[in-house]
Amino acid sequence: MKKRDFLKGSLLTMGALLLPRKIWAMDFYPTTSKAEWAVLYGTWCGSSRDAAAWISEGMNGIAKVFDVRENPDLSGYKYVIVGGSIRAGKTTPELQRYLTEHNEQLKGKIKGLFAVCGNMKQPVTQVQYQQLIDNHLSKLTGVSNVASKVFLGRITWGLMDPDARKQLQAFNMDEYDNLKRSECMAFGKEVLRSVAP
Ligand SMILES: Cc1cc2nc3c(=O)[nH]c(=O)nc-3n(C[C@H](O)[C@H](O)[C@H](O)COP(=O)(O)O)c2cc1C
Repeated sequence: MKKRDFLKGSLLTMGALLLPRKIWAMDFYPTTSKAEWAVLYGTWCGSSRDAAAWISEGMNGIAKVFDVRENPDLSGYKYVIVGGSIRAGKTTPELQRYLTEHNEQLKGKIKGLFAVCGNMKQPVTQVQYQQLIDNHLSKLTGVSNVASKVFLGRITWGLMDPDARKQLQAFNMDEYDNLKRSECMAFGKEVLRSVAP
């Protein structure tokens, strides 16, 4: 390699490293500057993040998507969809806490509830709707009779903390990916229709 090419390559690499961190952060840009819709999610390894983004895509991108760990201010939004991944039958502690603390603010705005679970790779039935929507998210939010969906999620060993990994491997679990973008998008459309048929 010529000395000049080497120097050029090194400078480019250094420049990339010096770029502000914000540029690398994942963000979701709604297709409207005055978004009325927000999707709020809680996740450990990202499946509910993707479900939330795809739900918004199904709504033609009109919803802004928030990780609950950002502690977002949702007071300016008219409608909210809430959901999250499941461990031991529950969503993340951060999502549970947020929903409890913002119960009054969110109650009238929530138009959709969703959960992302493994269900031992079995198809979702009414049992999961009862456990995860009726007996968990509906109770936390005080909201029932809105569009709701239980999605099958995924396992990525490389993203998981060692304890969680050990727990799942005790069940002889393999990596899997059952989350479907088309199902998430369809749910986004269903929620939209339920508000403006
Ligand atoms: C420690 C642990 C516990 C889990 N508990 C449940 C459970 O109780 N019920 C279920 O259906 N899925 C369970 N799952 C599967 C997850 O819900 C599923 O893999 C989900 O997609 C993970 O979401 P995440 O990408 O946000 O971590 C569990 C997964 C882990 C790692």
